[in-house]
Amino acid sequence: MGDITRIGVIGAGLMGSGIAEVTAKAGIDVVVVEADATAADAGRTRIEKSLRRGVDKGKLSAEDADAALARLTVTTELDACADRELVIEAVAENEAVKLDVFGRLDSIVRDPDAILASNTSSLPIARLAMATRRPDRVVGLHFFNPVPVQKLVEVIPSLVTADDTTARATAFATDVLGKTVVRAADRAGFVVNALLIPYLLSAIRMLEAGHASAEDIDNGMVLGCAHPMGPLRLADLVGLDTTKAVADSMYEEYKEPLYAAPPLLLRMVDAGHYGRKSGRGFYDYTRGE
Ligand code: NAI
Repeated sequence: MGDITRIGVIGAGLMGSGIAEVTAKAGIDVVVVEADATAADAGRTRIEKSLRRGVDKGKLSAEDADAALARLTVTTELDACADRELVIEAVAENEAVKLDVFGRLDSIVRDPDAILASNTSSLPIARLAMATRRPDRVVGLHFFNPVPVQKLVEVIPSLVTADDTTARATAFATDVLGKTVVRAADRAGFVVNALLIPYLLSAIRMLEAGHASAEDIDNGMVLGCAHPMGPLRLADLVGLDTTKAVADSMYEEYKEPLYAAPPLLLRMVDAGHYGRKSGRGFYDYTRGE
């Protein structure tokens, strides 16, 4: 079912830039839409750097990297999505912003069968779907960070998603992008975050209680459980603002203390310590990668 050849990606932050990169590498024409010119420039630079890293590591040729870049258009105009067959929304985890994007995309994207997908980590797909006049064409396509490396995509049909929408989105993730798909119900956190977020919050609570240092908590899980990265470093990589937003949605859905963001996380987000992307989180990233 290789019927999708033109896609749009909304938001070129951590996730949107990765989704745009893997899609362009797969030979698909990609329009990336950002909120303003500064963010658009930053998104394009992030994609270029990641492609160059791939070339340096011998994972793709310089010609393939150039060809992928030539398939990418970065713009601030949502109207550029008018002829898209699939649009993947990857703006910040904020329901009001996402509802606005879905409402506008619904009016802009001409093909009534075009799929509007969301990379949301925790917001109900059904709610995003109902902001459009094509709820049957709305589905969750949840990628993992960093997108070029992580093999998994969660596919989340809502109660109103048509079966062929789910099938086409699944085929795109597997056949075009080469990812492995797991199917999850439209419940906050889907499969992976429902298990991961309580673990990350527990590590933050442990640090907050003075139970152990950040390094020791992370080393414990890396060396004791063979995790590739400890929970605090992983929270920094995910983004502490995103971690809090996902925890908040899950708390709202399940009302379980296990999903409640601890005060230390709240204060770090208040202070603009978002983790790797802002240069500071549980660790300091200002002195290089
Ligand atoms: P981010 O903060 O790095 O990027 C969000 C981008 O959206 C920013 O560049 C911002 O300028 C842009 N944006 C905001 N409003 C916009 C608008 N109206 N139109 C166009 N662009 C707009 O966030 P990140 O981490 O990329 O997350 C994006 C989405 O992906 C969220 O829903 C998040 O929950 C989800 N996600 C995040 C993962 C992670 O590890 N960070 C993993 C999987 C999903």
